[in-house]
Amino acid sequence: MSEQRVPTHQPPSAPEPARGDHEGQTLNSFYGAFPYPWSPHQLTTLDDPAFYTRFLCQDVGDDTGGRVPVDADIWVAGCGTNQALITALRFPGARVLGTDASENSLALCEANARSLGVTNLTLRHEGLTKAPYREQFDYVLCTGVIHHNPNPSVCLRSLAAALRPDAVLELMVYNTYHRQEMIAFQKALTLMGIDRVGELPERLALARGLGESVPADGLLGRKMEMFEYTDEAAWADSWMSPLEHSYSVEELAAMADGCGLALETPTVNAFDQVSDSNQWDVPVPDGELRARYDALPDPTRWQLVNLLLMDRSPMLWFYLGRAGRPRATEAERDRAFLDTVHRPSAAQQRRWTRRPDGGYQEAETTTAFPAAKPPAAVRPLYEAVDGERTIRQLLADLGSAPTPAEVRRARLQLTTSQYPFLVADRTPAR
Ligand SMILES: C[S@@+](CC[C@H](N)C(=O)[O-])C[C@H]1O[C@@H](n2cnc3c(N)ncnc32)[C@H](O)[C@@H]1O
Repeated sequence: MSEQRVPTHQPPSAPEPARGDHEGQTLNSFYGAFPYPWSPHQLTTLDDPAFYTRFLCQDVGDDTGGRVPVDADIWVAGCGTNQALITALRFPGARVLGTDASENSLALCEANARSLGVTNLTLRHEGLTKAPYREQFDYVLCTGVIHHNPNPSVCLRSLAAALRPDAVLELMVYNTYHRQEMIAFQKALTLMGIDRVGELPERLALARGLGESVPADGLLGRKMEMFEYTDEAAWADSWMSPLEHSYSVEELAAMADGCGLALETPTVNAFDQVSDSNQWDVPVPDGELRARYDALPDPTRWQLVNLLLMDRSPMLWFYLGRAGRPRATEAERDRAFLDTVHRPSAAQQRRWTRRPDGGYQEAETTTAFPAAKPPAAVRPLYEAVDGERTIRQLLADLGSAPTPAEVRRARLQLTTSQYPFLVADRTPAR
């Protein structure tokens, strides 16, 4: 693959997906009409190119920071309109490749990348099933993509083949307990032949009309109401998708296993942040029940949480690695967190704001990052961090005796990419 360090929408290196197939026709035309997602109001980058590679390594339990290097090769597979650009800005020392079946989505991404002068991004019109990459990426990001394909495991195999031995794959697929209403509605569109209406604006109008006739107080009506203020592309992506699969944790783990991959840890993400479900926990009381719950291996516990929380369970958004790689358990990672000295992260942030005409305008000054404070429950601990004492010592000095669930919350809400507040000090604790 020849890397171009200028933002450009290149002809594909592999043969263009044949017309008539799912990638070349269905996806290209659907996401051409409804490019997803919308353009962000603001784009940002940090002056420290190691900031987010360090947090990504922490996300997967690698406090040494070696698993994804600063100058990583990154692939954003099925990047849509923004994700490859956001990733190039997040990892300015890395070489980022964005690929998608939708030419229109890539063109929007390219225009925004150009307006920001980004130089570490290459965009390519390429179907995932035909991707030619073999062991060449340190980090592959693929969210909301493979479940839109007739055979998602064929796509997952392409992603697996592209991973270097220690690489990290960040994958999100639909959680089956989140999708029942959408799948019912999509089947209704099929029964009425609406999914075969050739002109997509007409298909959208018919689908919207049908949606309005659904009783507002039923399961489907209530779910649809949550989309009342979303834009057209987001509505179409959820309610009119030409094809979707969804999974339980168990089904996702089995598909990963069939592709030579294993789930490593859930990705703490912005969507579950809103509903505070990033913890993957059911508050089982102490005693016999808790003992049984705590004894479960991580993947079994994630499946249990998926079953018990159902529609309230977190998104199926995970970090994966090659099967057979050693991985620390969540409990081991909590203990390592307690026994490690941390220091606050700090960087300067550049910001671009979207202009009404569609381009981006850079702010005149940089600002300190992170600007936000950690969530209230973990703030006293954060404020006590001094780069000298371990988390265990700090908690003892604060007179705090947190439960295991509270320790996990502190780790997730202080040391992950979604909450990038504390960096593990790599020198041994004194
Ligand atoms: C819902 S959007 C998600 C975009 C992006 N990953 C994000 O999270 O913002 C799905 C995108 O995946 C792309 N896609 C789906 N299947 C694909 C395939 N087999 N090959 C290439 N792109 C694909 C679609 O064209 C679309 O742009």
